[in-house]
This record gives sequence, C-alpha cells and structure tokens, in this order.
Amino acid sequence: MKKPALSLILVAAALRAQSSHLTWSDYGGAPDSAQYSALTRINRSNVSKLRVAWTYSTGDTNKYFFNPLMAEGLVYVLAKNNSIVALDAATGKEVWVHPTGPNNTLITNRGLNYKDGRLIFAVNNQLQAIDAKTGKLIAGFGADLREGLGRDPKTIPLVQSTTPGKIFENLLILGSATNQEYDSAPGDIRAYDTRTGKLAWSFHTVPHPGEYGYDSWPKDAWKTVGGANAWGELTVDEKRGIVFVPTGSPKYNFYGADRLGANLFGDCLIALDARTGKRLWHFQMVHHDIWDYDNATAPKLLTIKHDGRVIDVVAQAGKMGFLWVFERETGKPVWPIEERPVPASDMPGEKAWPTQPFPTVPPPFARQKFTADDLNPYITDPAERSRFRDAMLSARNEGLYTPPGLRNTVQMPGNNGGANWANAAVEGDKGLIYVVSKDLPSMLKLEPDGTKAAALTGSPEEQGQFLFNQNCVKCHQTLPGAKRNREAIRNAIRTGNQTMPAFKDLTDNEVNQVASYLLNPSRAPAKTGQPDRYKSSFGFMIASNGLSAIKPPWTSLTAYDLNDGSIRWKIALGDAGDLRGTGTHYPKVGPVVTAGGIIFTGTRDRKVRAIDTDTGSIIWEAEVSQPMEGMPAIYEMNGKQYVVFCASGPNNPSKPTGTIHGEYVAFALPD
Ligand code: HEC
Repeated sequence: MKKPALSLILVAAALRAQSSHLTWSDYGGAPDSAQYSALTRINRSNVSKLRVAWTYSTGDTNKYFFNPLMAEGLVYVLAKNNSIVALDAATGKEVWVHPTGPNNTLITNRGLNYKDGRLIFAVNNQLQAIDAKTGKLIAGFGADLREGLGRDPKTIPLVQSTTPGKIFENLLILGSATNQEYDSAPGDIRAYDTRTGKLAWSFHTVPHPGEYGYDSWPKDAWKTVGGANAWGELTVDEKRGIVFVPTGSPKYNFYGADRLGANLFGDCLIALDARTGKRLWHFQMVHHDIWDYDNATAPKLLTIKHDGRVIDVVAQAGKMGFLWVFERETGKPVWPIEERPVPASDMPGEKAWPTQPFPTVPPPFARQKFTADDLNPYITDPAERSRFRDAMLSARNEGLYTPPGLRNTVQMPGNNGGANWANAAVEGDKGLIYVVSKDLPSMLKLEPDGTKAAALTGSPEEQGQFLFNQNCVKCHQTLPGAKRNREAIRNAIRTGNQTMPAFKDLTDNEVNQVASYLLNPSRAPAKTGQPDRYKSSFGFMIASNGLSAIKPPWTSLTAYDLNDGSIRWKIALGDAGDLRGTGTHYPKVGPVVTAGGIIFTGTRDRKVRAIDTDTGSIIWEAEVSQPMEGMPAIYEMNGKQYVVFCASGPNNPSKPTGTIHGEYVAFALPD
C-alpha cells in the first residue's frame, strides 16, 4: 500500500485537532462554534499562577473585538488600521502585516476563516483570500457579495457581515448584515467555493414565489423588503452536514405595515443542508418581529439525556432572554413551547401577530419585565429619577412583545439586551451551556418618517399622497384645497395658516407633489401598496451617569444543565466602575469554557476572569489595559497553553478618546 503524502497526514491531524477542540483555527473555536477548549494544562488547580506571556499593541486608536485564530504556528489578529497581522503563536512577534485598505475600510472584524492555507474574509462587500503563510492576496479569488441578491447591486449599500461565516468542506457559508432600514437587501444565506470564491448556493430568507414561506409576506414584498438576515454567528454540525443559521428581524425593525404576515424566515433558527442550502427544518422565535429581536448568538450543539434517551440537540439563546432547545435532526422542541396571546398594535396599518412562542423549559436567563419599581437605585439625582419614573408610568408597558406605538413603549429586554453575538459557550458532551445576558431596557417610540418619501417610486400624486399622510393628515382628515389652484396650495404649505405650521423642510418638488395629489386625488388610489413609514429612535434607557435605568445586575452569566433544563448557578459578571458585583455595563462578553473546569471571560471593566464551571465562583482575575468585548482564543504551542484576549474596546474611563492603544494579551503558566 502506498503511504499517504506527509501533507495529507498533516491536514488530517489539523482537522482532528479542530473537531476535537484542541486548537482555535475558527471563529468560536471550531466549526461547531462551541467556544470550548479541550485543553487541560491550565485548570482549576493552577489557574491562579497565570501571567502575561506576551502582548502585541494594535498600533492604532481603533476599537477591536476580534477573536484571534491560530493555524500553522501563527496567531492571526486585526490591528494597525484594520490590517490582518500574523504573530508568532509562542512569542507574539509580528511575522507579516496585510493592510486591507484605508482606515474606514469595512472588514470582517470579529474573526476570520481559515481553510487549506488560506485566510478568507470580506472587505467592503468583496470576498477575498490571502495566503496564511505570507499574507499575500490570492489573485483570481473572490466575489462581490452585493451580486446575486435579485436587486440592483448599486442600490445595496451594505451586505457584508462583520462575522466571518463558517467553513464546511469546500464551502464558506455566509450570512449578511443588510442595514436596519427600509429598502434593505434581503438576507439570503449563501455558500461560496473556498477555492474559487464562486457562489455555490443561496437560500432565500425572504422566500420567492413558489418557495416555502412565500405566503407569510404580502404578494410582492420579496422584491422590496429586506433583512431576515444572519448577521451573527453560524454553526456547522460536520458529522451531519447541517449548517444552523440564526436569523434576525425583517426590516424595518420596528414597524411592519408594509410586510404584514408572520415573515418567514425572520427571527428563525434554520437548519440547512450545508452542501446544497436546502431547508431541513426551521423554528420561528418571533412572528412578524417589530422589536428587533434578532437571533445573533451561535446555535450550540449539545448531547443530553432526556426521558431516558440520549439525544443530540441544538440550543439557541435570543435577545428576549429565552433559551430554545430542539432535537438537532428534526427541530422538534425538547420541552413544550406554547403559543400565547400577546398585546395588539395600535399603529395605523400595523398588525402585530396575535401570539408568540414561549418556551416552558428552561427558565429565561434575562429579566423580561421592567416597571417603575425596578428603577436603578444608583440613579441618585432626584430630578432624573422622577423623569425616568414619569416616563415609565406614562408608557405602554404590557410585558414582553408590547408593540411599539406613537407613544413611549417599554421594551425589556431591550433590542440591545439579552444574548447577542459571542454570548454562549458549551460543554456539549455534558449537556452544559453558559449564557451571558445583558439586562438593558429600551424605550421605543415611532414617528412618521417623512424623509424617505423622495426615495419612493410612484407618480407625483402617489408620492404627494405619501407626504400628505406623513405631514398633514393628522389635522386634515378630509383633503384641503379642493377649490384652489396649485399656487394657492403651495402658498398654504409654505406660509402656514392659523394653527397650520409653515412646512419649511419640504423641497419644492415635494410641495408640488403634495399639490398634485390634492388637485387630482383619484390618481393616487387609496391603496398604493406603500403604507406610511415610521421610525423609532434607538432609546436605550441609560441615565446621565452612564448606567442602565434598571437596577442591577446588568450582566449575568447563567449556567444551565440541559439534561433536566435547570439552572445550576447564576452570577452577576463583572463590575461597573466603583460598583462591585453589579455586573459590568455594556457587555458583549464572550465566555470560553475549557476541559480544565474554567470559563474565561474578558469584560468592559478591563478584567479577565477565570470562573469555576461547577460553582460560578471567580478563581482568578487580572487587569488588562483596555476594555474587552468578544471572546478569547485558547490554543497550545510547543507544549504550552495560551489564552489570548483582545483588549481594545472603547470607553476606558481613565483615558481620553483617541488616545487608546489596544493590545492583544496572551496569558500562560510560567515555565
Ligand atoms: C397642525 C395642523 C395642520 C397641519 C399639520 C396642516 N394643516 Fe393645513 N390647515 C390647518 C388649518 C387649521 C387650516 C385653516 C382652516 C382650514 O382652512 O381648514 C389649514 C388650511 C390649509 C389649506 C387651505 C384650506 C383649504 O381647504 O384650501 C391647505 C391647502 C392646507 N391646509 C394644506 C395642508 C397641507 C398640504 C399640509 C401638509 C403639508 C397641511 N395643511 C398641514 C391645519 C393644519
């Protein structure tokens, strides 16, 4: 028998290391995004001896929250104005620098993909690859990610996610970050060939005619609506060839009169055949989302004992604070999920979905209600306290899934709360999952969005009708100006009339469009298919001292045992300024759990911590120079285990903005 070539043996060894969690050559550690390391050199008994092995300065004042990855003896990081930099994994010494463009270049900045000696990523909507040994661009590889979405690429400002995607065999599977607005691109899930960069398959998250879920939208919505995108993290079950895709809300986030229906596949967990993109199953967590309750955390793969059976499951943590658990191959919920009635919308044209799904087990990891009694005691200024109190008492506040309206509406967890990217880690074989939660409320309030009218297509009368509905209908229930000519109507709009204000912000063209409509209303049929547009300002409820309006804890870490769906322990994670044990504020904390019985985290309070997986107690803590977001990487090199953090976050209270130089910090045991 012929011996296999050495390079084949090496590739096989590397693959084994990856799937057995002995290295960190993937965002989230491995294709399964487990945020788990099987390495045990560092463990509960010696973690207190950890010290800094090396540091590498980012060399700029940018904020980074990059998950380093390790391959071929090198650690890859983002530094030096968004350059990809290769470091010696043992010493942190710079090996090469690959600039990606000017400082405002948009790059896959949470991590990179590694495959067969290449690093693959996107820069300004272009898929690219570089040689992992040299940092040299691979010519002829790539694709424009704005193409193939069924829309004019020139009309798509943004489609590239800052999360790198997932490699499966010779495919790179990508989600996208459409923007948050009306007229966003659709969130197709796509796979590209890792050798050529050519598109291999697409899955339409806004279904086209004839596709499953098409009838969960208005008839022609698929041509214009967007979102339902996977901007967060994907997970691959390599053995089964399944990619698990968590999707976000359809756009616009907070008002959906132009997309009435359940809006599949917005806010779903979708299981796709990783080779073909064919849908195997899906579950929708939020029907007709009008709260921006994206699924962003990587789906997590676990094996549990349930009712005497050993089953493989997939668990999804969400912004609402729920942890959803499904059988991996069928999508059958492991515990009952109940459709319960939720409050109705009072917005014109809007139809909030009458029910939403609620998991009965396991219990939520975030607080899901916020009343005036829960005000943060650390808001001490009496005037500010009563301002918050009054706002709370006069707001619509009927619990989870209260629809946003024209008056203040409390949202808890807010749309930037609950679990987000990087927020969960698993010991999959044991059925254990650790979820970080940010308990931050939002206040939503919709306002007419007149500014978008110019972008609408339609006759002058139709556009005029839109502007009239935005600006005038609240006073004029019947159309004014019936007996007037164009000039008189223009004058009325320009100069005002009794209590009618002068509309200085409307352009001449818009004034003419309104006049055209009032003179010929029949040319704008009542149903133009384009309802009014509303927008909500992002109202995170934050006090002038920078703290949340709600009482602590602001960040928590919850340990679940999914063998019985129970919470093993729960801790407040980190400090907020001088406040101890409140949980850090503004967390995007990515835990990483190890077979050494430790969870490593880095937080905005500039602390790295080791937490005992059994008890939740903190068994080691060290300070770094900058705040942190995202997750560390854990790997072994020359028999030594390293834990590398990206300490390059914003908001270091001790330093003025623009002076911060972040760094990558590697911890190891002394020789
Ligand atoms: C704050 C309330 C208010 C708003 C908003 C408002 N109007 Fe008026 N408008 C009035 C009042 C009051 C009058 C005077 C009483 C009347 O004639 O009905 C008036 C009069 C008019 C007239 C002359 C009366 C007529 O029937 O010929 C026109 C034309 C008119 N408005 C157009 C508009 C248009 C177009 C807009 C939006 C761009 C607008 N208005 C927004 C309150 C308003």
